[in-house]
Amino acid sequence: MRWLYTLGYAIGWKPWETAAERDGARLTALYEREEQERGRPYGAALDLGCGTAIHAVELAKRGWKVTGVEIVPKALRAARERARAAGVEVQLVEADVTKLRTAGIGSDYRLVLDFGVFHGLTEAQRQAMAGEVTSVAAPGALLLMIAFAPGRRGPLPRGASRGEIESTYSRWKVVGEEALPVSALPGPVRNWEPRVYRLRRD
Ligand SMILES: C[S@@+](CC[C@H](N)C(=O)[O-])C[C@H]1O[C@@H](n2cnc3c(N)ncnc32)[C@H](O)[C@@H]1O
Repeated sequence: MRWLYTLGYAIGWKPWETAAERDGARLTALYEREEQERGRPYGAALDLGCGTAIHAVELAKRGWKVTGVEIVPKALRAARERARAAGVEVQLVEADVTKLRTAGIGSDYRLVLDFGVFHGLTEAQRQAMAGEVTSVAAPGALLLMIAFAPGRRGPLPRGASRGEIESTYSRWKVVGEEALPVSALPGPVRNWEPRVYRLRRD
């Protein structure tokens, strides 16, 4: 998938950003729920495949201590600019989500975002990612994951079922699942049934 995202950022094809900007309020409710349960200080949040840091910056504004990990350098440059313009501090690291422990990002993350990464990875990458995420997450951490329903889409994300997510994240329990609004996504993508999953670590 790396080449695809590199190409997307190079030509400015980033439909997930349009969706995030238009439908962000839906995610806000999920953040609020976690924040109310935890109380301040919220602690550390990790945005996996943070792209240009739309969500990382939002979390930082809300009071989380945020780290964003991203594999495409051009996206990271835009992420740094976004954080600077917003006047918030976000640790932004060029790294692969399947190798988090060697990326020097620390551990004890209370909130983890995976908005569109897991569902595009191979089986081996998913296993590696889940192991790394589990290692850097705090006990009781919450993982919010956006994934398309499974399907054949050529080079585009193949999606993930709830069963696949549960069996890969074996130390996490799915505690919530809901459909995401799809109005801002391009035509065919609307039929891919994006869902947001809430997983709690043991
Ligand atoms: C669908 S985009 C979503 C970006 C961002 N999460 C958002 O919602 O705006 C997926 C992102 O994951 C990044 N990505 C894909 N595979 C990755 C990997 N193995 N390690 C780190 N980032 C990755 C891509 O470069 C891309 O920025």
